[in-house]
Amino acid sequence: MFNTKNRTIKIFILVFFINILCFQLSGQEIETKNNPFYFVQITDTHIGKGTNLEITQNLVKQINELPMEIKCVIHTGDILQDGMSDTTNVIKAFAALEKLEAPLYYIPGNHDIFQEHVRKEMDIFQEYFGDQIVEMDFEEVSFIGLYSDPIAYSFSVEGYDPFLELENALERTGDKPVIVFHHIPSVESFYNNTMHDGWENENRDRWEKTLNSHNVIAILAGHFHSDELHWIGEIPLFVSSSVTNRFGRQPSFRIYEYKAGKLSYRSQYEAK
Ligand SMILES: [Fe+2]
Repeated sequence: MFNTKNRTIKIFILVFFINILCFQLSGQEIETKNNPFYFVQITDTHIGKGTNLEITQNLVKQINELPMEIKCVIHTGDILQDGMSDTTNVIKAFAALEKLEAPLYYIPGNHDIFQEHVRKEMDIFQEYFGDQIVEMDFEEVSFIGLYSDPIAYSFSVEGYDPFLELENALERTGDKPVIVFHHIPSVESFYNNTMHDGWENENRDRWEKTLNSHNVIAILAGHFHSDELHWIGEIPLFVSSSVTNRFGRQPSFRIYEYKAGKLSYRSQYEAK
């Protein structure tokens, strides 16, 4: 009789503490879900032309002065104007951008790696700025950055298969929300009041199918030097305007806010 009563009390205490633990865990989960997660996108710095180096230096300073915690900065390509072979400007660009206090991740654009020097410029890019594919894993979300120009312009690079790299990276993210970033958007470009063809249909379809078969919540790109929103199947494609003032643009970067599975952004402009 006494033993049974004792056992009942022990079970009661155990259940009580399990409930408290579960309550705390779900509380932490809600807190993580509702905590904003900020990161910055910069794109198309085109260093080596005009005053783009000075503009980049100004925006780097502005990003460092942001009041919120910036988990990372992503550069979506066209770091340089004249390719990685222009090593004087590679060094200047690297020196300006490494002053960013948040961790910085780059992928190359068509002005960083020219098709005629692809292998050589990929190697220089790797030496200064990183791999052709980058994977970052934060508590809330995973990022995959990809050199996608060979898909966009339909050329092949020995030893680099961007679709295969992307598929493997997506597999590694499991069910986690993923943000993919690359340079050339997979849609037509519209400028001079004319629609211009983009990627070949076959590549566009494979890209859309690949990304939509995983938990990709957003795609970020640059290249167009304009603010645009498109949909790649069920996934929003955010195209950011440029750091460079080329084409009469006001230099800008974007602050993204990830909250409860959704992504929002604010464009920020160069402060004079
Ligand atoms: Fe570009």
